[in-house]
Amino acid sequence: MVDSAFIQASEHRPKVSIVEAGGIPLIDLSSLNSSNSNDPESLSGLVAEIGAACKDCGFFQVINHGVPLQLQERIESAARKFFALPLEEKSKVRRDEENPLGYYDTEHTKNVRDWKEVFDFTLEEPTFIPPSHEPQGQELQTLNNRWPHYPPEMREACIEYARGVEKLAYKLLELISLSLNLPADRLKGFFKGETIFVRLNHYPPCPEPHLALGVGRHKDAGALTVLAQDDVGGLEVKRKADGEWVRVKPIPNSYVINVGDIIQVWSNDKYESVEHRVVVNSQKERLSIPFFLTPAFSVMVKPLKELLQEDDPPKYKEFNWGWFLKSRKDSNFKKLGVENVQIYHFRVAE
Ligand code: OGA
Ligand code: NI
Repeated sequence: MVDSAFIQASEHRPKVSIVEAGGIPLIDLSSLNSSNSNDPESLSGLVAEIGAACKDCGFFQVINHGVPLQLQERIESAARKFFALPLEEKSKVRRDEENPLGYYDTEHTKNVRDWKEVFDFTLEEPTFIPPSHEPQGQELQTLNNRWPHYPPEMREACIEYARGVEKLAYKLLELISLSLNLPADRLKGFFKGETIFVRLNHYPPCPEPHLALGVGRHKDAGALTVLAQDDVGGLEVKRKADGEWVRVKPIPNSYVINVGDIIQVWSNDKYESVEHRVVVNSQKERLSIPFFLTPAFSVMVKPLKELLQEDDPPKYKEFNWGWFLKSRKDSNFKKLGVENVQIYHFRVAE
């Protein structure tokens, strides 16, 4: 039996039959990296595809994305070596209440423990964040990555991977801006001094995969997530059309992209951050690597004024990103027994 902390309430347990994703668009980015990348017609076609995917699904997969496969192979290999270490070794780089970076195996999503272990690092070393989620007037905390001694290539493999995916993430952000009829660089300024972090997720085989989840249902808090997954599968997305949980089929050398809460707020709900979860299995371990594109801690998040109209007023009050991030991290660490902060807490009453 698995520990009761892992057991999901019956309505949140995975189904026995799997619905393979028919609903998640596959977008070919080859035109971005080819000689006709300045061709306005192919660009506008791509922008329309991205816009439709964000609006209808909140999730899509990209191929021919231009990130060298070798970067992914290297980080995956380092991650597998790291997670295979004895717990005692991994615990030397364990996350604590002061520093949320490094190894962690007791994360909770909505107060149920996830069947996974993770390793978190930031792209920028160090990254600065507010020291607590109390709103005002405090000195910044410096977050340093915690790199293990083994495997020795871990640090370089992680940072080079993150640098490679960063380019893709900003390219996607430009395409999303264009799809909202905004200038390509409209959102870039929010990311000066960004808090980008990358997570290595390791899901060990689970003896009771029908009772637990690798990650419970949640929405990603940042602007955009760029996720690499191995060939095992398990990511499920709640389909907007009918609320059905559908499996995202692994495609070699692709990324899964999803809109996070911040884009939902910036776009005033034109694009929604969609709920997703991870189902585990009793046979195979699984590895996934989400890259969370997140703004600077000081950014105040609110609907973009260009996207508002008299009959489409702001649906959210502004909130501070650093505070939001910190509240989330604290509640995942502590298992507070209350729901953690969500963007709907900032919704304007209609
Ligand atoms: C996450 C997440 C999905 C996966 O870490 O936020 O949704 O496939 N992961 O591991
Ligand atoms: Ni997620």
